[in-house]
Amino acid sequence: MFERQILIKRDLDELSRPAADLFTTIAREAIETHENFCVALSGGSTPRHLYSLLAAEYSSAFDSTRVSFFFNDERNVPADSTESNYRMANETLLGPLGIDPDRVHRWHTELAGVDEVAAEYENELKRHFKQTGRRFDLVLLGLGNDAHTASLFPRTAALHENERLAVANWVEKLDEYRLTITFPVINSAANVIFLVSGKEKAEAVARVLEGERRPEEFPAQFVNPENGTLYFLLDEAAASLLNRNQF
Ligand code: 6PG
Repeated sequence: MFERQILIKRDLDELSRPAADLFTTIAREAIETHENFCVALSGGSTPRHLYSLLAAEYSSAFDSTRVSFFFNDERNVPADSTESNYRMANETLLGPLGIDPDRVHRWHTELAGVDEVAAEYENELKRHFKQTGRRFDLVLLGLGNDAHTASLFPRTAALHENERLAVANWVEKLDEYRLTITFPVINSAANVIFLVSGKEKAEAVARVLEGERRPEEFPAQFVNPENGTLYFLLDEAAASLLNRNQF
């Protein structure tokens, strides 16, 4: 069974501070307990402000030399592409914090094909989990307006991948492959945070949190960390369709 917590703040600026507080609390506890903190970062645009805030004001709140950074997913683009989730995190968080590149585990999209990229990443995940004896301390997720998360899009094959840890997922609506970790990895994390902002996400938030269970249509419903804590950090606009008297 997992615990679920919901926090709603006025806007993304106001939400990013408690998000940074939670991130660093989890990081500090993991480092104190296991001497390292293993986190999977989200891509997209929502976490940019959080990453910049962590780099600007929280660098002394946790020992960043004890952190291993992974990525939930990646576009099938070079690491220096403006579309790259790695590039965004490197510009806003990893570079400013001066993270040792050996502690940054990006998807090597420069390899031959998407299946090779996914296989290599899965091996990297397995190597790290074997070395630490643990899965992720934190998986930081975004939510699409179609209720996808990571690159686990509605009605795609990766939704039902229960063996592999990382796959190349064909996304018909995008007419491209996306690289993504799978739900077994997300659901084995000690903490999962959804950071969601904007009115365009309100219907997806309401569907995921209060709608009937239809995870094929609303994949974020598959996120249930078996023995972890699930946090929804929402701004007012993203939470605007929720039945507020439930919490
Ligand atoms: C990506 C992310 C994806 C993202 C959502 C929300 O590669 O884009 O992994 O899952 O978190 O699409 O994106 P925004 O934060 O840009 O709204």
